[in-house]
Amino acid sequence: MIIRSVEFVKSAVKPADYPPAVLPEIVFSGRSNVGKSSLINTLVKRKRLARTSSTPGRTQLINFFEINGSMAFVDIPGYGYAKVPQKVKAQWASMIETYLTTRETLTGLILIMDIRRNQGPVESAFVEWLARRQIPAVLVLTKADKLSRAKQLDRQRLAARAFPDVSAEIILFSAKTRLGCDDVWKAIERLIEVKPGSS
Ligand code: GTP
Ligand code: MG
Repeated sequence: MIIRSVEFVKSAVKPADYPPAVLPEIVFSGRSNVGKSSLINTLVKRKRLARTSSTPGRTQLINFFEINGSMAFVDIPGYGYAKVPQKVKAQWASMIETYLTTRETLTGLILIMDIRRNQGPVESAFVEWLARRQIPAVLVLTKADKLSRAKQLDRQRLAARAFPDVSAEIILFSAKTRLGCDDVWKAIERLIEVKPGSS
């Protein structure tokens, strides 16, 4: 994908604050600190477009970005280990569920998982929920640079077994080495059927 323009549009909490639903939208989801914001930055070749941090819970709002004037990326808070009070977690969960269930232009979800972590019941339940809602999902195992190539492939096979109903390949990714960047773009293009170079 040739990146001609990348723009932060706005942050929002509730639907009234979302930007107009015009462009096909891809949302990036996963546990806190897994590397969602880093993955977005890697895809669009910007170091600090989406804010990242070594402290879980960096992203606290729904952040909308516009790419090439032809699609939108959405960065959302992570689930799980955020060092935030239970009450805030519940607010985030409801904010994200509202987004996922009401956004008409939502076209696909990139589910990002740490390659070193076993996929647990939270991920399985989420994948099932997405399937029921007919939200297409692409699975990405990130931080692949932390493992040898052989271990990466082992983890990929294990993930495929954990999600037997996910027909698409599970993509190995690293924000550090850019491994898998082209594969994630291809998956996004398939989701939104935008051909490279078109707008
Ligand atoms: P929240 O917004 O807090 O939920 O986090 P996030 O999922 O957006 O994660 P973020 O992109 O902020 O990255 C979290 C930490 O992981 C940062 O310290 C990143 O530098 C690091 N990180 C992200 N991706 C990779 C990767 O592919 N490889 C390595 N080695 N580190 C990564
Ligand atoms: Mg983030």
